[in-house]
Amino acid sequence: MRAVDIIRAKRDGEVLTVAAIDAMVRGVLDGSWADYQTSALLMAIVLRGMTPDETAALTDAMVRSGRRVDLSALPGTKVGKHSTGGVGDKVSIVLAPLVAACGVVMPKMSGRGLGHTGGTLDKLESIPGFRVDLDEARFLEVLRTAGCALIGQTADVAPADKVLYALRDVTATVESIPLISASIMSKKLAEGSQALVLDVKCGRGAFMKTRSDALALAQSLVAIGGARGVPTEAVVTGMDRPLGRAVGNALEIRECLETLAGQGPADLVEVVETIGGRVLRLAGVATSADDARRQLRNAIRTGAGRDRFRAMVAAQGGAVAVIDDPARLPASAVVETLSAAADGTVSDIDAALVGQAAVLLGAGREKKGDPVDHAAGIVVRATVGSTVRRGDPLLDLHGPDAARIAAARAVVAAAVVIGGVVDATPLIRAHVDASGGVSTP
Ligand code: URA
Repeated sequence: MRAVDIIRAKRDGEVLTVAAIDAMVRGVLDGSWADYQTSALLMAIVLRGMTPDETAALTDAMVRSGRRVDLSALPGTKVGKHSTGGVGDKVSIVLAPLVAACGVVMPKMSGRGLGHTGGTLDKLESIPGFRVDLDEARFLEVLRTAGCALIGQTADVAPADKVLYALRDVTATVESIPLISASIMSKKLAEGSQALVLDVKCGRGAFMKTRSDALALAQSLVAIGGARGVPTEAVVTGMDRPLGRAVGNALEIRECLETLAGQGPADLVEVVETIGGRVLRLAGVATSADDARRQLRNAIRTGAGRDRFRAMVAAQGGAVAVIDDPARLPASAVVETLSAAADGTVSDIDAALVGQAAVLLGAGREKKGDPVDHAAGIVVRATVGSTVRRGDPLLDLHGPDAARIAAARAVVAAAVVIGGVVDATPLIRAHVDASGGVSTP
């Protein structure tokens, strides 16, 4: 089956056969498809879509491109978590040690930054020495020691996704429900978890801009998980504003440490407690939302979550000294503050602009394989609904030099809106249960 015929078929809106989808995934892996052919097919999929059966076939082909991790030797319930990606989304880094402290094993293979959104692996690698490239045996060992592990996909897990993900990042082919569904679920199914909770981000700073698209993605993910025997729930959460205050790798690790110490920003804590509550209930270790919240707060109050984080960092080769002394994290040479140009109420902070500016500072990638600057990023100092006076600090820009700061400043200048109406839409938008039922909090 020739690549050009498969590309043409999708370009013309045809439904691809399982054989065509398998051929594409095989071609991507064995190199017989050139990057430009794969990219052309990806773009055709973005524009033409895929049926649920095509999406399931793509997911299966991507799972089969590698092998599934076998976690059966590990005691305890293994629950996975994944986010569709956002700006300042550091939930996994706080959540995994917290649920581990509550008795749930969280094996998590994460991704790198994609487009204007950050990646858990890039964030963790800002801890000196932290290794994300563990093989399966070491992954299991870290899980046994710490109860959680945050690593990159092992070479064996959905290798086709690795190639496709990197191409999509630089060819404007991320925003597609079937492609995101197959990408996430192939990794999650191969990762070996017994159940899954997915955080589907919705809004300006997310790949899904509207509630209805986010819900459609959530339902697509839940359906694939359920059909493959892995009970899956999804929570749709807002991503119009950055989550928390920090955007950028080391800056976000610092905020995670504050959150594990009980000093996290309210929005981040709300998402952690919501997703964490679902994880604990799916695993059967909490009987209600209140019980789950109490257990998670207890894990923060007693320091048990922080201890799990420390154990994970140590087991993955990271410098545990940063946990007690975050000043050891990488820091930027230049920090500049953007100040309010007028008095008034802060009505909005645009996550997409903040994310784009963070990439310009070096916190993300502009093209495949670019290195990231772990120190770079943005700290949002204004909060929506607060009153500021002209000259008050709104954002701090952390970068390596004046040129990058100037480029970021030009983009981010319009991100903080002073005056106007505050959008009071709740952060938690909807929940999709394992049978696909939707509820709104
Ligand atoms: N996260 C993933 O793992 N894949 C996507 O395609 C988008 C977000």
